[in-house]
Amino acid sequence: MEETLRELEQRALQELKECRNPTQLEAWRLRFLGKKGELTAVLRGMARIPENERPRIGQLANEVRDALEAARTSRQQALRREERDRRLAAETLDVTVPGWRIPVGAVHPLTRIIREIEEIFLGMGFEVREGPEVELDYYNFEALNIPKDHPARDMQDTFYITEEILMRTHTSPMQARTLEMTYPSVPVKIIVPGRVYRRDEDDATHSHSFVQVEGLMVDRGVRMSDLKGVLTVFAKGMFGEDRQIRLRPSYFPFTEPSAEVDVSCPLCDGAGCRLCKGTGWIEILGAGMVHPYVLEKAGYDADEVSGFAFGLGVERTAMLKYGIDDIRHFYMNDLHFLRQFRRAL
Ligand code: DAH
Repeated sequence: MEETLRELEQRALQELKECRNPTQLEAWRLRFLGKKGELTAVLRGMARIPENERPRIGQLANEVRDALEAARTSRQQALRREERDRRLAAETLDVTVPGWRIPVGAVHPLTRIIREIEEIFLGMGFEVREGPEVELDYYNFEALNIPKDHPARDMQDTFYITEEILMRTHTSPMQARTLEMTYPSVPVKIIVPGRVYRRDEDDATHSHSFVQVEGLMVDRGVRMSDLKGVLTVFAKGMFGEDRQIRLRPSYFPFTEPSAEVDVSCPLCDGAGCRLCKGTGWIEILGAGMVHPYVLEKAGYDADEVSGFAFGLGVERTAMLKYGIDDIRHFYMNDLHFLRQFRRAL
């Protein structure tokens, strides 16, 4: 009996080594340790051995069972470890492989310029306002001292919707609207970024739709030197501390006197180059002292208050700042172009 048990133990341990997976291990357990297994079968034979031998054999049988159970447990753990190592090896992750590039959008260059302009003027105490793109003839022209038969209407070929309703040709109507709304208070200090429309043929420098920023400051005692000071701060903030501006006489119906404002060429620093056509200066905006007619249309007394106004082309500013040579780039939505502006948000 004893020998049978020892032989059983040896054989079981031998076969356990050959179990390669949980299924085989379970089959092994049933075969040696199960209720219908070999060990149980041996123990049934206890009845046939002398009574005084039974405790010893019983104890031996228990030792064999315990040994087989323990061997099974450690074999099971070894198999699990092997299985886990196999899985880990198969799943190896190379952290040096480059990751996916997640496409990130960017702020459009025009939006970026508008935000920069806003920052500069907010810093000088101006408020940002917006106005309607579909505008009344009254605000676009009449209130700005451009009556129906005025030749200045030819300067701005207009998309009309009805006789009296049109697509605004400039942001200047917001001068009239703001003054009308603010009357009788002063000061008025606003800038108005916005899209405008003109019946122009599209080419490298013209577009039927573009963006302007209007500026208006009205208060007691505002003078032309204030205009020059504010625009100098703007030009330096936008194009660099070394920039200077100059005012040339011009004509706009809603300002008197009127000026065209040039900035010293950022490319050649005033020496003369292709960009500034050899003059050393580049025109960036129209401006002037608000015409008394405009102030009085809104109710203000032009003897009491005065103001300046200016109108700036945003595409032109962006083209100058970024060295872009064709206005159509802003509207073609070519990603190669737009991605160059990706870093700024
Ligand atoms: N509104 C003018 C235009 O679009 C630009 C302009 C000139 C605006 C002089 C002004 C100004 O406010 O004072 O051509």
